[in-house]
Amino acid sequence: MRNLFISAVASLALGTGTAFALGAEGHEGSIVDVAFSFEGPFGTYDEAQLRRGFQVFNEVCASCHGMKYVPIRSLGDEGGPAIPADQLRDYAATLSIIDKESGEERPRIPADMFPTVVGDGMGPDLSVIAKGRAGFHGPYGLGINQLLKGMGGAEYIYSVLVGYEEAPACAPDDAEGYYNVAFTAGGVPDACKDAKGVSTVAGTWIAMPQMITDDVVTYADGTPASAHQVAEDISAFLMWAAEPKLAARKQAGFIAVLMLTLLSVLLYFSNKQLWAPHKGKKTA
Ligand code: HEC
Repeated sequence: MRNLFISAVASLALGTGTAFALGAEGHEGSIVDVAFSFEGPFGTYDEAQLRRGFQVFNEVCASCHGMKYVPIRSLGDEGGPAIPADQLRDYAATLSIIDKESGEERPRIPADMFPTVVGDGMGPDLSVIAKGRAGFHGPYGLGINQLLKGMGGAEYIYSVLVGYEEAPACAPDDAEGYYNVAFTAGGVPDACKDAKGVSTVAGTWIAMPQMITDDVVTYADGTPASAHQVAEDISAFLMWAAEPKLAARKQAGFIAVLMLTLLSVLLYFSNKQLWAPHKGKKTA
């Protein structure tokens, strides 16, 4: 028994040791776990936060990123940013589109999608990026943290946006891109690799410049726009864009579980009652 205990403690200690080593490689270690309002079985979006996130998207991100799968009208949805219809029409009208039928340029209407943005220096479409990226993979790549903390798509975006750091000393001055500790999909200059070609630094280089700093926007609702606040708001907004019916889905799931529990109780008692006459009888 005592041996078992000791070996359990030892393996635990070893386990955490490796976990730290993983963190040092910058995979999971650099993803910040943010307590978003939409997490957990009953979490919902914070409408005011989504409106702020939309403001950030519009003023900061939209110049390089499209959102072509998101209809503009969905900005008016309850449980989403809930932007009033007249403001929506005015906003849509500021974006132009080539009309499919007439082939001519016209202002957008709320029924149109957000623009598609492509070209040199432009980033990927952000419609579903929050579901296309996972912040948590560990421990040991098993993904157990996803059960505990969620997939971490919004956390990943948050972490990339605030993950810009001064490039490590090994980097040449003309390294392409910007050093980011949360971004692991980018390139690493040869000077920052060891003899085996393995990176010796925590992050990688990303083609997107640092966009979020303190007071990069002035919020319409007066919330102080610290870099962290702004990064949280835009990450929540992109989560909503990717998963607009989250609250309805959770509610339907909750009701389904409730019904199934009730059904289980009923089945248990009817089973008991059905078999009651035959229980305890001698078979021979
Ligand atoms: C100056 C243009 C520009 C602006 C402005 C910009 N981005 Fe980007 N973004 C890029 C480029 C380019 C990439 C591709 C980076 C790469 O793959 O190295 C990118 C990539 C991304 C990615 C994907 C990272 C990944 O894992 O592949 C996310 C998320 C993102 N941007 C979010 C944002 C948000 C949110 C904003 C607004 C706060 C924003 N971007 C503003 C150019 C921009």
